Amino acid sequence: MPKLLVVTRDGEERTVEADSGLTVMEVVRDNGFDELLALCGGCCSCATCHVHVDPAFKDKLPAMSEDEDDLLDSSEHRDENSRLSCQIPFTDELDGMKVRIAEED
Ligand code: FES
Repeated sequence: MPKLLVVTRDGEERTVEADSGLTVMEVVRDNGFDELLALCGGCCSCATCHVHVDPAFKDKLPAMSEDEDDLLDSSEHRDENSRLSCQIPFTDELDGMKVRIAEED
C-alpha cells in the first residue's frame, strides 16, 4: 500500500497508508485529520481540502483543471505547490509523497 506523509498545521507529521483508488483528500480525512474540512465532499467546489504538495512529486500529479485553479485563487495561502487534495487520485506512483495541510482561510 502506498504511504502518504501528512503534515498538520502545527507541524506534526504522520505517515499513513492507504489503498490506491482513494483521493488524497479521502486518505487524509479517513485517517482522522479533522483540520482538513473537505466540506463539499470532493466536488471541487469548496477549497477546504487545500494542501501544499512536495514539489518532488509535482510532475506525477494530474493537470489542474480550470475549476481547481479558480478555487485556489480564492485562498490567501496559495503558493506554487498548492493543490486541492480531492483532485489528486492517490496512486502507487505517489508512494512517499508529503502533503502539508494549508492554513485556514
Ligand atoms: S473537498 Fe471541496 S474542493 Fe476538495
